[in-house]
Amino acid sequence: MAPPPSNPHRHTQQLCFVLPILLLSSVAAESTPSFSSHCPSPAPSPDLHTDANDTNALLEHFHFSPGFFSGSGASNLFMPGISGYFSFLPHAVSRTADPAVIHLSSATLTLFGKRAEEHNGTLGFGSYERIYDVAVSFRLDGYYSTTTFELCMVGTGTDTDGPVKRYADLALRLRVPSKPSLVDPFVAGHLEGGVDFETVYLVTYADGDVYKYSEGRATCPAEAATTSARGGFSCAALRSRLLSEYRLRHAQSNSSSLPRLHEPAMIVNQVHCAANGAVRLYAVFSNDVMPWARTNRFAVENQAVVAEGFWDAETRRLCLRACRVELAVSYWSSAAEKLEVRECGIGMSFWFPAVWTVRDRSATAAMLWNGSQAASGDAGVTSDPITASAFQYIIRTTTTTTNLSDVKYSYTQTFLDTATRHYLNANKKTKASFPGAYKFSSYRDFEFRFFADNDEMVRERGQAYPVSIGSAMVDGDELAAEYAFSRHAAAEMKQSRLVNISYGILFQFTAFDRPDCSEIKAEGVYDTETGFLSMLGCRELNVSTDCKVLITVQLTSLEESQPSGHGKGRISSLRDKTDVLYFESRNITLYGMYSEQVSESIWRMDLERIITLASSTLSCAFIVLQILHIKRNRDAALATSITMLAVLALGCAIPLALDLHTLLANRDKQFVELSGSAGLLDLQELVQRAPALIAFVLQLRLLQLAWAGRLSSSHHHRSLGSERRVLQVCLPLYLIGAAVTGVIHDGNSRSARKDPLFGEDPGTLWGALASYAGLATDGFLLPQVVLNAISSESSSARALSPWFYVGGTVIRVTPHVYDVFRARRYVQSARPSYVYANPRDGLFGSAAWDVVVTCGATALAFLLFWQQRPGGDVRRTKTGGY
Ligand SMILES: *[C@@H]1O[C@H](CO)[C@@H](O)[C@H](O)[C@H]1NC(C)=O
Ligand SMILES: *[C@@H]1O[C@H](CO)[C@@H](O)[C@H](O)[C@H]1NC(C)=O
Ligand SMILES: *[C@@H]1O[C@H](CO)[C@@H](O)[C@H](O)[C@H]1NC(C)=O
Ligand SMILES: *[C@@H]1O[C@H](CO)[C@@H](O)[C@H](O)[C@H]1NC(C)=O
Ligand SMILES: *[C@@H]1O[C@H](CO)[C@@H](O)[C@H](O)[C@H]1NC(C)=O
Ligand SMILES: *[C@@H]1O[C@H](CO)[C@@H](O)[C@H](O)[C@H]1NC(C)=O
Ligand SMILES: *[C@@H]1O[C@H](CO)[C@@H](O)[C@H](O)[C@H]1NC(C)=O
Ligand SMILES: *[C@@H]1O[C@H](CO)[C@@H](O)[C@H](O)[C@H]1NC(C)=O
Repeated sequence: MAPPPSNPHRHTQQLCFVLPILLLSSVAAESTPSFSSHCPSPAPSPDLHTDANDTNALLEHFHFSPGFFSGSGASNLFMPGISGYFSFLPHAVSRTADPAVIHLSSATLTLFGKRAEEHNGTLGFGSYERIYDVAVSFRLDGYYSTTTFELCMVGTGTDTDGPVKRYADLALRLRVPSKPSLVDPFVAGHLEGGVDFETVYLVTYADGDVYKYSEGRATCPAEAATTSARGGFSCAALRSRLLSEYRLRHAQSNSSSLPRLHEPAMIVNQVHCAANGAVRLYAVFSNDVMPWARTNRFAVENQAVVAEGFWDAETRRLCLRACRVELAVSYWSSAAEKLEVRECGIGMSFWFPAVWTVRDRSATAAMLWNGSQAASGDAGVTSDPITASAFQYIIRTTTTTTNLSDVKYSYTQTFLDTATRHYLNANKKTKASFPGAYKFSSYRDFEFRFFADNDEMVRERGQAYPVSIGSAMVDGDELAAEYAFSRHAAAEMKQSRLVNISYGILFQFTAFDRPDCSEIKAEGVYDTETGFLSMLGCRELNVSTDCKVLITVQLTSLEESQPSGHGKGRISSLRDKTDVLYFESRNITLYGMYSEQVSESIWRMDLERIITLASSTLSCAFIVLQILHIKRNRDAALATSITMLAVLALGCAIPLALDLHTLLANRDKQFVELSGSAGLLDLQELVQRAPALIAFVLQLRLLQLAWAGRLSSSHHHRSLGSERRVLQVCLPLYLIGAAVTGVIHDGNSRSARKDPLFGEDPGTLWGALASYAGLATDGFLLPQVVLNAISSESSSARALSPWFYVGGTVIRVTPHVYDVFRARRYVQSARPSYVYANPRDGLFGSAAWDVVVTCGATALAFLLFWQQRPGGDVRRTKTGGY
């Protein structure tokens, strides 16, 4: 076991790589491990002068792809069970007096792996394991024999994770074929760890241009597949299209011609090619239907093939001959070096289909056959080849880079007919703007995610993406797809109401026999005027394909604002209930936003941020004006309702406390991911909250002024008496308000729980408190109006500055008016995105409530105006007033 790292702060990533080199160069001089004990052969020999071209060629020879390491030494150094990789970098090389020996005087071997570290949660509870990347570097010196292909090096290593740790007395032994070939393509060996760790086994695919292709060309089957009309041979393009995962289809019968390659998936892991069209590759076979993500690191599996061949420009195919590679020993236990090239005579070819259909949509297709079973002659494919097609990732990223613009989609008439029949039966909607029909539409408006409404605990989810719309291919590279869409599909959708459309739908059927996601390939028709989509699809099963899956979707129009998303649909089976392939139909709910809505909502959020800042700044100004008003008219302090000021102060404090609470909660959550940028985030949030904070402080000052004014007055007993009466009137009202808020909030949170995707926060106490504070603050003038009504002095002085009560009312009312406007205009997305007029402050979140609040607040303001109007009070004229 590796010692647990004691220093958790390892932000100095670069240092990891610089330090070992610095340290090692100082150390190398003092302790050179002896060649005689570790590397008796090849025997060291004095260096000769080597010119630059020769040095470059030799360095090139010692350049390998990032490789695979394993063995018990790997578990000593890193976390066991998670594979890492190694890189080997030669720095200095020269020829020696012995022509068969080369001196590799300096090279770095780096092992990249993972380690785990215990973390305690921020507030002392909840601990978790953090897994992080570690690199251990070794600086080596040694000799290579061009006759035995043996490279033996000695050196030291440094581990900079935590306190610097040195590994001394190491030896690296590698077998590096001087000219790799089909039957000898690997570099393999081991690192002996001396006393610090056990042996680490290393293996990789030989890189570089020294590869020796065999004589004679590989043959491809004579029958030509329709291949896409891409131009000349390009090594980079070929590589990027070949490096992929392939799903294999084996012969139906049990008489496979390649009985040893029976796995369901193949991953092309390494591809090298030369300018003349020569290509060599390494592919592994996996029994995982969803293999790991693609990397450039050398991968090891129980079964693999190495292949070499050429690009046939005429038929636009890659023809290869391949050999099976077998792992002699299980690589987790010990020796990964035992990759053995066993049987050759396997034929392999790759091509890029020019036509996609509902059943066959592979960007790259391949075939493998047993060449040794073939009849003599060049077109030697046996009866049962393995066919392969590259498949998409289940989680599609936006960076699909394959340019499919030269692929044509060919619709299947029977599928279209069935889909059209169901479209005619179901379709009823009226005309509105649907994707494809409005001005700035994009093919991405046709993408959607969805979940199935079932009663089970596990929610089934899925994702659908368009493959072709009309004659436009919209899969693959984003730019090419957008171009094809705007150029062809948009015009076709204007001309004809019904367009042909095809989709790929990734769906997690929990009831289906395949344990993971299955892809439904569907095609059908889309009505641009009603937003109705009707498709017939095929889902792949272990042994068969079920092509009787009906998918219907009613998209929402752009204008229709529904918080519950993007549309509704249904996936059902057209089979009899008795059929083994029948499945229960599912209603699906779509979510996501149209591209136009996304840009609108970003714009809106920016605007709301500005309004929020402006309104809290304005409220500061109004409070300052009121403070000045009180300072100017001493009686105003006496006439101001303390209850009102207290309500206002609380109304300010509660949202601030709530924000602080959210901020702290998020901090805890983001601690791991964003430890770097979290500080910045907090600062920005604080700046946004600053005016609200200032308003709160000013509010307190106002309260204090009013209170002090009240106490210093000679009438303060009387005024306290009227304040008590105000409380007697208002307190019951506030209690009723609290009860109503509690009931409604409970109802809201219950419905939010029913719909967890769109419900905001599932009703916390904080949420209820915020709603209540919002309601009380909206009616902030109530206590003042009551006080004016019941007390004689209060009406004699104008307690509130018009700025304060008119401005305050406007600030409280604006969000409600805005909310009404916004609700008509915007679709709520899955994630809450409201900055201003946050629905959490409202109670019902409905337009009616907004209208009620607006009217109530305005009425209070008018009442106050009437009470405070000059000469509005009879008693004032009687007593001469103030
Ligand atoms: C090195 O190679 C370049 C081109 O490959 C050639 O022009 C040059 O003469 C060579 N130099 C020596 C010293 O061989
Ligand atoms: C985590 O907490 C335990 C006890 O609660 C303590 O012994 C340990 O040192 C803490 N570890 C770290 C990394 O803080
Ligand atoms: C496949 O194997 C089964 C038994 O394992 C046998 O009954 C069947 O005839 C075989 N099919 C073919 C096409 O060889
Ligand atoms: C190819 O066919 C031969 C003869 O039937 C068989 O011995 C060999 O195992 C097959 N090759 C593979 C890779 O399965
Ligand atoms: C895709 O390929 C076509 C030709 O095959 C080319 O015209 C087009 O520019 C490419 N598009 C992108 C985005 O690379
Ligand atoms: C849809 O595809 C079918 C078959 O390719 C074709 O006959 C039909 O014209 C297409 N419909 C439209 C509206 O393009
Ligand atoms: C499909 O494969 C799974 C395991 O991979 C197996 O359990 C199931 O029986 C298979 N179903 C059919 C219909 O062959
Ligand atoms: C699906 O929705 C339809 C109405 O749109 C309804 O009649 C049906 O019962 C729903 N099915 C399920 C399984 O919820």
